[in-house]
Amino acid sequence: MNKIPIILDGDPGHDDAIAWVLANASKELDILAVTSCCGNQTIEKTTYNMMRICTLIGLHVPTAKGRKRPLISEPIIAPTVHGESGLDGPALPEPDFELVQMDAVELMAKILRESKEQVTLVPTGPLTNIAALLLAHPELKEKIKQISLMGGGVQYGNWTPAAEFNILVDPEAADIVFSSGIPIIMAGLDVTEKAMIFPEDFERIRAAGNPVASVVADWLEFFYQFHRSMGYEGAPVHDAVAVAALIHPEIMQMEDYYVEVETEGDFCKGATVADFRGVLGKKPNAKVIMGIDRKAFADLLVEAAKYYGEVAK
Ligand code: BDR
Ligand code: CA
Repeated sequence: MNKIPIILDGDPGHDDAIAWVLANASKELDILAVTSCCGNQTIEKTTYNMMRICTLIGLHVPTAKGRKRPLISEPIIAPTVHGESGLDGPALPEPDFELVQMDAVELMAKILRESKEQVTLVPTGPLTNIAALLLAHPELKEKIKQISLMGGGVQYGNWTPAAEFNILVDPEAADIVFSSGIPIIMAGLDVTEKAMIFPEDFERIRAAGNPVASVVADWLEFFYQFHRSMGYEGAPVHDAVAVAALIHPEIMQMEDYYVEVETEGDFCKGATVADFRGVLGKKPNAKVIMGIDRKAFADLLVEAAKYYGEVAK
């Protein structure tokens, strides 16, 4: 099978972590590198979390630290959602490897430059590193096959009424990415709030009976506590949808839209505005995921959890 070469970029974060657990368990994907960005917590904390996750799941690929802060906007962090560490909950192993001696942008550039095939980027945090890559190395754009990202929402936000967290944190970066001409798969709130993992699924995951499965179940419990206090019946595992879209697009409904990012405004900074009616007459720049077979998505996470018991044998 021809695997899809990907680079994971995120701000782990419980759902980033679960997205990476899924990616690493997917035979369809070839993870070339992992990079951290600031978002859910400071870059120091997300980088440390990235290293602990990679150690836990045995993912040993080049790994680099991303930009310290958004391109222009002031940083926003989310300790209410992910805790003070950015990944509160179960104990994790200390990193068993070193970061490469270059930052995230230079690592991504090196991999793209040296790759014979086009590479897919999978950002699940603010788009700072990706925008910085496009600004610093515009010649490498053609080496990027597509960007499957978690961010935005064409109907509503979660951090403000109009804006989703990842886009709000760095709207200028998001604007650069959405206007880059690179094909985008957008896993925004429209679908990720339907990608709900329920407490009974946590138990199916835990029942896989291996250390990674048990940590994933604990992450889900932690993530659910926050969401339960807001009236959710499960944990929306936003970031894992950006990975699932690459391996099982058939379980999703996608619509082609032209999407613009609002970078200013009193109420709508960070909004992803879709031209539903085509009034601008522009070609769609994104496949916006609007729906998902929730049960099939939960089953994917259960199967990924089982994988870690198999590889340990
Ligand atoms: C996004 O914000 C972060 O808290 C999550 O990790 C996810 O990427 C959801 O709005
Ligand atoms: Ca994230």
